[in-house]
Amino acid sequence: MNVGIDSISLCVPESFYPLTDLAEKHGIDPNKYLYGLGQEKMSVPSPDEDIVTLAAGAANPILTDDVRASISTVILATESGIDQSKSAGLFVHGLLGIKSNCRVIEFKQACYGATAALQMATDMVRQRPDEKILIIASDIARYEQDSLGECTQGAGALAMVISANPRLLNLHHAHGTHSFDVMDFWRPNGHKAAQVDGHLSIEVYLESMRQAWSNYKDNGGHQLSELPWLCFHQPFTKMSKKAFTALKESEPQQGAELTDLSYEHSLLYGRQIGNTYTASLYIGLLSLLENNPQDLTEQNIGLFSYGSGSVGEFFSAQVVPGYRQHLRVKEHQEMLSNRQALSHEKYTSWFYQSLADHENQVMPKFSNREFRLEKVDGFRRVYGVNTPESNELKKVS
Ligand code: HMG
Repeated sequence: MNVGIDSISLCVPESFYPLTDLAEKHGIDPNKYLYGLGQEKMSVPSPDEDIVTLAAGAANPILTDDVRASISTVILATESGIDQSKSAGLFVHGLLGIKSNCRVIEFKQACYGATAALQMATDMVRQRPDEKILIIASDIARYEQDSLGECTQGAGALAMVISANPRLLNLHHAHGTHSFDVMDFWRPNGHKAAQVDGHLSIEVYLESMRQAWSNYKDNGGHQLSELPWLCFHQPFTKMSKKAFTALKESEPQQGAELTDLSYEHSLLYGRQIGNTYTASLYIGLLSLLENNPQDLTEQNIGLFSYGSGSVGEFFSAQVVPGYRQHLRVKEHQEMLSNRQALSHEKYTSWFYQSLADHENQVMPKFSNREFRLEKVDGFRRVYGVNTPESNELKKVS
């Protein structure tokens, strides 16, 4: 029985900050960000957006009544959780009206969490093929202001439904993993921004990929020559090029056949969004499926997931015939192109002064996305659905 990804949907905030403006503020050559790191824009959430509103916004379009009725489990993967105890997925479960006979959990292992969710969900569906699992990867990637990591920030969510006989991708059984206790990136309790040893993190990422690739092959995975398309975790898109080069070097003969074409369509969305931690690999996958003009039917895609700290996993999937009919290309491309650019002042106040951390706070209305954070009441977050009328009010004011 085939099991894998049946549908995928993206949600990003309505605003972004151009990295050329950040370069000007930092007094450095913008080409460092544009070409050195391969990033153009960072997605910036408004004060009434968080990982819950983004997650609900990503999942809602792919939840038909039939799908909703067969979801047995919701797994929300994040490393920017909003509560130390309650799973953010429970807010999403409520907002989306998913039935109560359902388990809801949150997964954390830096950027790797959604891949753990995907592998677990696939095994669950293999055991109980009538069930569907909703996985949502949702994150706000935040570093200290004026740090070297600031230019790689971003925000967004990606939702996937995992099912038997999926309409987009069949996951292969083979996968290769590599775990290693290392302090390349971490976020201590009580800190909003991640701490990072940036250059170490790049080395550990690449070593993790080599080890996971070797384990994937030992576990019966495909040869590199059988994986014409590749997607790598993208903290910034240039990292994919580094990963691709390292993978080719591990397989000098087969690697010689591969060109940059094998991964470059996977960079197009991430370049416009920035790091989205758990969602980043899957936004790369979506970008490949939605932007590659070639028909990918029955072709294999190799994927590398990395979460600092660190866990890496190499796995692969095959594209299902008819996949194009089940993508939401127009909606995603419009969502990305209709965003507004922010000034430096607004970007820093939205990104670094979180009103939602107050004990009591009515959130000013900024977001016109489907779901928004309305208020915080005694540290309880209260979410609501945006109506066309409330969006109209915003336009007038
Ligand atoms: P840096 O020191 O600011 O940058 O740190 P650099 O000096 O290394 O330059 C970066 C690149 O720009 C270099 O290219 C330069 O040559 C080039 P490379 O040698 O790497 O190919 N460059 C230029 N190119 C064109 N024109 C110019 C120019 N100037 C320089 N004028 C760093 C960069 C990524 C380390 C920093 O931004 C950082 O710390 N970022 C956050 C950490 C990160 O993203 N790590 C990635 C691997 S770990 C990971 O992926 C996990 C993560 O997602 C978290 C999780 O798992 O939860 C982060």
